Amino acid sequence: MSKTFKSPHVDDRRDFAKLVERTSKAMVKHLTERPSQPVDCSNPPDHIGDELANLTLPADGMAADDILAFFEDKLMPWSMPTNHKHSYGWVNTSPAPISILGDSLAKTLNNGQDGYDHSTVFLMHSLGRWLMELSGFVASDGTPDGMAILLGGGSAANLNGLTVARYWAAKRDGWSIREEGLQGNHPAMTYYTSAEAHSSVQRCVEQMGIGAKYLRKIDTDDNFRMRPDALREAIEADLAAGLRPACVVASVGSTNVGAIDPLDDIADVCDAFDVWLHVDGAYGGIVGLDPAYTEMTSGMSRVNSLTLDPHKWLQVPVDCGAVLVRDRQLNHENYTLVPDYLRAASTEEGSIPWPCEHMFELTFGDRAMKTWAAIARMGRGGVRDMVVNCNNVARRLGAIIEGADDLELLAPVSVSTVNFRYVPVGSSLSAEELDTLNQRISDRIVESGEGHVPTTKVNGAVSIRACVLHYENSEDDADHLIELVRKFAT
Ligand SMILES: Cc1ncc(COP(=O)(O)O)c(C=O)c1O
Repeated sequence: MSKTFKSPHVDDRRDFAKLVERTSKAMVKHLTERPSQPVDCSNPPDHIGDELANLTLPADGMAADDILAFFEDKLMPWSMPTNHKHSYGWVNTSPAPISILGDSLAKTLNNGQDGYDHSTVFLMHSLGRWLMELSGFVASDGTPDGMAILLGGGSAANLNGLTVARYWAAKRDGWSIREEGLQGNHPAMTYYTSAEAHSSVQRCVEQMGIGAKYLRKIDTDDNFRMRPDALREAIEADLAAGLRPACVVASVGSTNVGAIDPLDDIADVCDAFDVWLHVDGAYGGIVGLDPAYTEMTSGMSRVNSLTLDPHKWLQVPVDCGAVLVRDRQLNHENYTLVPDYLRAASTEEGSIPWPCEHMFELTFGDRAMKTWAAIARMGRGGVRDMVVNCNNVARRLGAIIEGADDLELLAPVSVSTVNFRYVPVGSSLSAEELDTLNQRISDRIVESGEGHVPTTKVNGAVSIRACVLHYENSEDDADHLIELVRKFAT
């Protein structure tokens, strides 16, 4: 006689209130204790790492309480530095508490965001407009314009935008990239970005079959911004060589130094040569909310597609990227392929667009609830004040550095990013020795548990790079970081 199967999930559903109570205690413990823990406590001791990497598959199911205890003991104590306000290195931030809850509820509902007219697909429609308002991705009359979808991050969002650009360029020339791929006899497409652009731009171009050889890394000016004159020259040279300039990728907040490319001038070049303009604003796409940056980013209204990363400045738990595309129809044409088994209703004709018809993935999780919650909790004014606050802390850091004899600013402060190094007063250290010293300062700060401020390179020199993105940062943190640098310099 066969034994009747009974899933343990039935018991867990019955006991869910008790399990949630225990889980919520662990969440509260983490959020309350994290600020006083070492900033980087992400690496478990070797024996725990070994244990975690070599677990045996249990023959019989574990008790739910044992599973929660395992999480509490073996995983939760080790969390990334980004969960701490003295972490300045990586630009995904501590999640907004309400967003954690939005995410938990989304997981409970388990509604994919791919399509069907369910609640969060409708919510996504409003959220898209909110993201457009916050980033200035609006029509010339100031109204939100286009559609937004949420993906895994900035890299995925860039890929989406750049594939729509490729489809558009081919269509403009009278052929279909979906039909022919890159196998037809058409002029090779060229893409353009600055030498400061995020590495994901090159990865996209490689994976799209354009090839790194056809990605022009345009020179930058002294402030690390793409030079529109150099862009124009590069496009003209490619046209003269019989190539097809297809897309420019500008940055609003380059990863390394927070540079903002001159969008209006770049848009003029794109208009003149009929080239798609994509902006990678994964980091700084909402910086225009700060009046100090509004003019610099006014060209957003002329952009064809835009990447934002709500898991950066908007303090949404990873993962969450967003791509905004002005021409929803074109985005749809590039991706839609609905098999019969999913053709439950027309999705474009007068109905809410289904995200899966505007991107590559089909089934994927709802990121709208957590993103909506993070923004709704702040409102437009709150998001603006938070952006201004982070920029003010960065400006304070910059002012301290500029006024100090032993510190040197290596790039202008931009989009809450500060690049600097320690140079001992009266120092006769070589460039190499300064690099070693600054790398050591950064390493020692991380080892001390008092901060997390990794290095990058600026003009070939090792630079301590601080990005201010935490919702709790204040100007005191600028003073604290400088104290740390000096403390570990000696
Ligand atoms: C400007 C910029 N673009 C793209 C990315 C890639 O984003 P993600 O890591 O979310 O894929 C980053 C990541 O830091 C970034 O700073």
